[in-house]
Amino acid sequence: MMRNSALFSLLLSFLLFSLSYSNPPHEANQLLKFSGSPKALKIARDNWWKIIKNNNKFPVYVSPQEGLREADKIEKLPGQPEDVKFDQYSGYVTVDPMKGRALFYYFVEAPQDSGSKPLVLWLNGGPGCSSIGAGAMQELGPFRVNSDGKTLYANKASWNNVANVIFLESPAGVGFSYSNTSSDYEITGDKSTADDTYTFLINWLERFPQYKSRDFFIAGESYAGHYIPELASLILKNNAANTNTVIQLKGIVMGNAYVDGDTNEKEIFNYLWTHALIADETYSIIQSNCNFSSSSSRNAECDEAITAARNEIGRIDMYDIYAPLCSGSSNIKSSVQPDPCAGGYVNSYMNLAEVQKALHVNAPYSWTACSDIIEDWHDAPATLLPTIHELIGSGLRVWFYSGDQDSVVPVTSTRTSIDMLKLPVESQWKPWHVDNEVGGYVIGYKGLTLATVRGAGHLVPSYQPERALAMFSSFLKGGF
Ligand SMILES: *[C@@H]1O[C@H](CO)[C@@H](O)[C@H](O)[C@H]1NC(C)=O
Ligand SMILES: *[C@@H]1O[C@H](CO)[C@@H](O)[C@H](O)[C@H]1NC(C)=O
Repeated sequence: MMRNSALFSLLLSFLLFSLSYSNPPHEANQLLKFSGSPKALKIARDNWWKIIKNNNKFPVYVSPQEGLREADKIEKLPGQPEDVKFDQYSGYVTVDPMKGRALFYYFVEAPQDSGSKPLVLWLNGGPGCSSIGAGAMQELGPFRVNSDGKTLYANKASWNNVANVIFLESPAGVGFSYSNTSSDYEITGDKSTADDTYTFLINWLERFPQYKSRDFFIAGESYAGHYIPELASLILKNNAANTNTVIQLKGIVMGNAYVDGDTNEKEIFNYLWTHALIADETYSIIQSNCNFSSSSSRNAECDEAITAARNEIGRIDMYDIYAPLCSGSSNIKSSVQPDPCAGGYVNSYMNLAEVQKALHVNAPYSWTACSDIIEDWHDAPATLLPTIHELIGSGLRVWFYSGDQDSVVPVTSTRTSIDMLKLPVESQWKPWHVDNEVGGYVIGYKGLTLATVRGAGHLVPSYQPERALAMFSSFLKGGF
């Protein structure tokens, strides 16, 4: 997920990036500044584009993996329910032996027909948040943590009902993933994340060779709106070069995805106003005074209105505007909605010595949901729309989904971003159903599908497990 504290400072700090699908941006020295970052690191985002375009770094590091799959097998997670009918694995894949950098994964196979079900990589965002802490333990994984912080209960709508799912803690410095060379954390950014994730996949497929020819999909949320298109693009390029295992990438699906910074900033306020969270006047001032395409022209009226908006909203969960807040120890697990204190239970569970032993963890620091070690994000393009456009052109299945109660990467942002791709509509907006209820809405564009998930916040499978699973199954099938 996006980090709460950095929300406004991060989202409001992106500079203009003029969209150009045919030509890489020409203003090569234009810098993007993350003012939300402690050291306000400057990055040359246009250089990043060139690096991706001209990345000739083949082949990647591949090491022998014999015996490691067996070693990674999880006998049993502490406190797990009875009758677990699927295999679980976790461990490290070294992505750079010289630096001593390794990524930690948790892999759950499907209880039935795992041999024919697809392989899915799940990525949470941040940047710098753990896919196990959120994705596996609060969203789409087979277990959730009880309020005792020690035992687990089954998630009936787990995505491993329909796929074999890898949860990756990425990049190094997140969760149990680490580097023995601390300077690695100073160069962490989109580029190094994509490279390491690709190296991870190639080595992981050596460890689990039965998955080499399996249909492969990448799914994720939030800042994974950067990770996913970047990784998909790298996979396609390396597949074409044919120097490593050809990864059978068939599609990508991104939830409440942060793909275009400027659009997102602007659309947050549109969402806040249309959902009756801020005053008319404040919104009106924001509309006439805030230029979301440039920090240089931001004026005092705009800044004041944004401060006013923050106060007007009050203390609510920005990731699910209608959800209750965690009110400490008095929370009782509700059968209707996810427990808003779940993050705390996961944190306790992941730091238990017996849990770390069962997971084959060997990390030099304690587990946190979002990284404390990565302080600055070295590089990120302002928009992923050109990359997404290319991926659509390559024939990949591309889906967006959106929990419509999220105000951080709201549905208004996703719709406006998709609009900027200028794709013709092929099937009109219509409801889709689960159990005779509207689960959300779907619209089909040429090469892209958008599905909303009704009544879900940013962590879609957490708030609406059945609807999320129905949406994901439809994605795997290619339609509702
Ligand atoms: C990191 O260093 C530790 C301690 O020397 C070592 O056991 C571990 O294998 C190293 N990790 C990697 C990925 O090389
Ligand atoms: C926003 O600022 C940029 C750069 O200063 C300028 O080119 C653009 O026209 C402005 N947009 C609006 C809507 O005022």
